[in-house]
Amino acid sequence: MSFGDLLALVDKTILNPWLTAPCVLLRVNRALSRKALNNGVNAKFDWSKEIILITGAAGGIGAEAAKKLAARGSTVVVLDVLPLTYPKPGNLHYFKCDLTNYDAVQAVGAQISKEIGDPTCVVANAGICRGKPILEATKRDIELTFSVNSLGLLWTAKTFLPSMAQRNHGHFLIIASQTGHLATAGVVDYAATKSAAIAIYEGLQTEMKHTYKAPAVRVSCLSPSAVNTKMFAGIKGPSNFFMPRLTPDGVGETIAQILWSGEAQNLLIPAFAYISPPTRALPEWLRVGMQDGGSQVMTELNPHKPLD
Ligand SMILES: NC(=O)c1ccc[n+]([C@@H]2O[C@H](COP(=O)([O-])OP(=O)(O)OC[C@H]3O[C@@H](n4cnc5c(N)ncnc54)[C@H](O)[C@@H]3O)[C@@H](O)[C@H]2O)c1
Repeated sequence: MSFGDLLALVDKTILNPWLTAPCVLLRVNRALSRKALNNGVNAKFDWSKEIILITGAAGGIGAEAAKKLAARGSTVVVLDVLPLTYPKPGNLHYFKCDLTNYDAVQAVGAQISKEIGDPTCVVANAGICRGKPILEATKRDIELTFSVNSLGLLWTAKTFLPSMAQRNHGHFLIIASQTGHLATAGVVDYAATKSAAIAIYEGLQTEMKHTYKAPAVRVSCLSPSAVNTKMFAGIKGPSNFFMPRLTPDGVGETIAQILWSGEAQNLLIPAFAYISPPTRALPEWLRVGMQDGGSQVMTELNPHKPLD
């Protein structure tokens, strides 16, 4: 290649604004979001000293996250209604707790504070899905879904965020769902509770900053699409390049990485899931078309029922 050819190549690539401008814009966008989500404040975490509480980590995604976080040496505290499904490492503490009962959550919070210390990181992961179309769901199905996924999340925040806000140190990570951004037939009540979880995430982020003057407290949200756990047993639909079925191990790793980054993040996984949030601002035919495409995915859903 001659020098002239090289200059022509540089002119057509690096110096071509049509190619470089989107990359520059993406980088600027990412930097602005990062700064905004972290309130422009640096925070340091010492993983040998942090106390990480994870709700709903007896099995599924939470269990994988708990094992990884404990393996790095942090003290890990698990709250769940079900017993642990894995051998308990020495630095992992388990408390049986039903998150729908506010008084019980407050009582276990006080016990943890006394016996272990105040959690500095919380992964609000517990959730249920009863897996019925809305006209077939019973009153109990719907009440339980909202009680765990929305109210239980708020009880978790009300119990464990005060000490973080007071110290202006900590990370509160909410596990929402792609369905919170775009509801799917068969899980309407579940989707509604996850929309609430996303609103709670956005609201807590701004309250930590403005109301509680705790800008260093990180508030994050992770919205996965379908994951191979007992919650979504029976789900149909091809696992393909764009929407691969996620594994509990992979999502557990993402949870651990978000905490270890020390930075607040708002993520959807896999990358193709980012198609969902903008649907509310796009023409309705696009949203309805996407929902039509997913209308059969939940018809044979048969989730386990931790609260029965
Ligand atoms: N599996 C998926 O496809 C998927 C997709 C997106 C988001 N999520 C979310 O990820 C989180 C973890 O789900 P998972 O797939 O690991 O399901 P899972 O059922 O395996 O784990 C959920 C855990 O929450 C616990 N739990 C339920 N109700 C509780 C209560 N009242 N008090 C205390 N613990 C309670 C359960 O006992 C269980 O151990 C949930 O919030 C779920 O909504 C899951």
